[in-house]
Amino acid sequence: MDQDGLLLSEASALKAARKEAGVDNLLAGLAGIVIRVQENRLNDSVKELVSTTALEHVQSFSRGGFSQALLQAEKTPTFIVRESKEPSSIRHLNARPRTESAPDTRLETFIFETPDIKELVDIQRGRGVSFTSEIREIGENLFIRTRPSPNTHNSVGYVQFLGEKSFGPKKAAFKPIPKPDNDFIGNIGFLDHAATRITHADRIPAILEWMNLTGYDFSESVYAERFNSITNVTRLRGRDFAMVLTSGIGPTAGDRPDPTEKFVRNYGKRVHHLAWQADPIADVFEGLKREGTGFLLDLVGGPDEGLMQTFTIPSKNTFLVQEYIHRYGDFDGFFTKDNVTKLTAATDAQ
Ligand SMILES: [Fe+2]
Repeated sequence: MDQDGLLLSEASALKAARKEAGVDNLLAGLAGIVIRVQENRLNDSVKELVSTTALEHVQSFSRGGFSQALLQAEKTPTFIVRESKEPSSIRHLNARPRTESAPDTRLETFIFETPDIKELVDIQRGRGVSFTSEIREIGENLFIRTRPSPNTHNSVGYVQFLGEKSFGPKKAAFKPIPKPDNDFIGNIGFLDHAATRITHADRIPAILEWMNLTGYDFSESVYAERFNSITNVTRLRGRDFAMVLTSGIGPTAGDRPDPTEKFVRNYGKRVHHLAWQADPIADVFEGLKREGTGFLLDLVGGPDEGLMQTFTIPSKNTFLVQEYIHRYGDFDGFFTKDNVTKLTAATDAQ
């Protein structure tokens, strides 16, 4: 059986096992995303995010040794951006040639809401999932987080909201970092997908693990053969947010551009980009360029292809690239081979 055949049969077995274990009904979708930044970069990071995405700064507070900011947008998980004086316990996973100067910086955790965290954790522990602690009470929430995955170096968190659906304490006065007053920022919409880059060897274990932890299903793989890269798409039924795991096809051969495996060597396994709906995307692209945002490529695709996309250069504050994407017609999370190939190629320069 080839690798894709193996993936399909393993994914279908995992889906059945997950359902049988009772996990599916305990996972209610993506509620939060944690980005840790280097000390003294929190304000710059928030300023950058409110200026280049739909996110709005809605709260700031200190908790557990972290200064934290909450950012929100419609149909989008809450972003928890934070910094601390204490070094990250996963510096050894973060520090690579291009990230050594900011070894605490990483999009660390995708947090999923559950109606019953105790039951979910009991089931998942029984299925071999390991967590960094017991279930903790944080404010009015119950929370737990997995150890960083060996396949992606990302963590998955589970939260049960006992009171208001919020990641912050009761609202107190704070000084919001305003969104810029321009004519295009309102054309950026919800978070469409996030993409994590991993090596060819991580592909099947990473997809199966993500499905196991989050209730997502494998949907499709888009090959960019010339660039030794596969864009693997996973989705949660009936939901908008897709998770992409981009892997090499094979080891670096040395005779062709190799942006995906190269990214992992230079930045480590981590989230490469966040993709935001943009309509009209041309206004967003031109507006951001005017205000000084750099891009890895021009807009690619169009109505005939069904979608139009582009990538910014990576942020110095978060190492994240922002993607802007316009889908013509209804959201169904699909990608096209031509766009994927052009976008992958452009990241060879980062
Ligand atoms: Fe993307």
